[in-house]
Amino acid sequence: MDGPIAAASESPLPARVPLATEPLGILGSLKAARRNVLSILPEIATRQPMVSGKTGKRWHMVMDPGALRRILLENLDNYPKSDVTKNLLKPAIGESLFIAEGAHWRWQRRAAAPAFTHRNIANLAPMMSLAADRATERIAIAGGKRAVDVAAEMVTTTYEVISDVTFSGERGLDRAAVHRAIDGYIAETGKISLFDILGLPTWVPRPGRMIAGSALKEMKRVADHAVNARRESGPKPVPDLLDLLLAGVDPETKRQMNTEELRDNLLTFIVAGHETTALTLGWALYLAAFDPERQARAREEAQSVLNGRTATAEDVPNLPYIRAIVDETLRLYPPAALVSRTAQSPDTLGGREIRAGDTVMIPIYTLHRHKMLWSEPDAFRPERWLAAEKPERYSYLPFGDGPRICIGASFALQESVIILATLLSRFAFSLVPGRTPDPVMILTLRPEGGVWLMAKPL
Ligand code: HEM
Repeated sequence: MDGPIAAASESPLPARVPLATEPLGILGSLKAARRNVLSILPEIATRQPMVSGKTGKRWHMVMDPGALRRILLENLDNYPKSDVTKNLLKPAIGESLFIAEGAHWRWQRRAAAPAFTHRNIANLAPMMSLAADRATERIAIAGGKRAVDVAAEMVTTTYEVISDVTFSGERGLDRAAVHRAIDGYIAETGKISLFDILGLPTWVPRPGRMIAGSALKEMKRVADHAVNARRESGPKPVPDLLDLLLAGVDPETKRQMNTEELRDNLLTFIVAGHETTALTLGWALYLAAFDPERQARAREEAQSVLNGRTATAEDVPNLPYIRAIVDETLRLYPPAALVSRTAQSPDTLGGREIRAGDTVMIPIYTLHRHKMLWSEPDAFRPERWLAAEKPERYSYLPFGDGPRICIGASFALQESVIILATLLSRFAFSLVPGRTPDPVMILTLRPEGGVWLMAKPL
């Protein structure tokens, strides 16, 4: 029952990326990717376990769970993050956790891990609940009479959370300026990321990267100041991420982060954590509006658990359907929709020869919509997450997997459930005709044009 006709005669499907049905060539790829990196993904990447080719450089797209396990776990050291990620992010976040490899990555990961334990994340939940209340107030202003761009609202909301848990209470910190610097940087660098994906050497100029330079400098200055101020003032009564990182020690080497390393990692949390979570929430609200019946089911759950309150960390385990919506949103619109690695030495993946220097892409977007791995891959079916049978490991990778799995996954999931449950208990969301968001990947998978919904206060 594949194909648009069959799909159309069943029920309509939520927004998706039109995948390439014929080879694009280098120029074609560059042109397509300038608008949407995902449009270079071939449609067969939703049917085949692997797709390989050469566009200047040899590349492979891997959708086979066994081969993904090899890349992300069994043969991890052979597949460091590709230059894409590093070139894009290094000017902003240095040799931090996200970018570092080998020993320099390992000690930072061990030093940062305690900050993300279940208990510490639960302690940060009040800032998430507060942000959910502020979002309620802002959305309520439209009074259900004007459409609201909930995607933009969620960017504001998750930025409040991440800046509260990193630089909370820092006087004189211009959070809006840090926010502008980060968003400006991402917007500029993301545009030309295909150069990096194809593995063009770093000396090929990337126009955007130069523009954002001074904003970056200012951002780092502000962050250094915040780190030093906290060192002097000592930890807060309930430790935030900055306190926890300041206290972090690698148990093996006993190494602690210096100011520069702390700053780079805090900025990493902001860059890696706020937009991704905002996108999850923006897409989740779109899907809820797209499917009023499932929205009603979610609201029933949220209202019966919350009883008019704002959701807290304690409520999260009692909101399984809201959580299923978050999981399903991350399947259909994974914010990090394409990640890539560079093979260091020869290997075999899914029976195919990999040579040193080959680009190995993990197109999470097509993996999550793969016809061999999912039933009704393009449909919004949160119920699949409530079934006893869970999806095959390494077929669902919104946070990556293996040792380099996202350190903030539980943080992001807790935040998404708290905010989504609170909003769905307080508003009825509906689509605005003719304003279907267009999924476009510029570094992350964004709804181009925003997610405009009517939000009727309840
Ligand atoms: C829904 C929200 C999020 C998504 C979809 C997401 C996705 C990802 C993915 C896919 C990776 C692995 C990238 C790769 O293997 O190439 C990653 C790594 C990472 N993420 Fe997240 N992330 C989210 C939220 C967060 C948050 C809230 C934080 C911090 C507060 C964070 C911090 C990091 C860090 C530091 C890494 C690098 C970990 C390492 O290499 O050891 N992320 N994330």
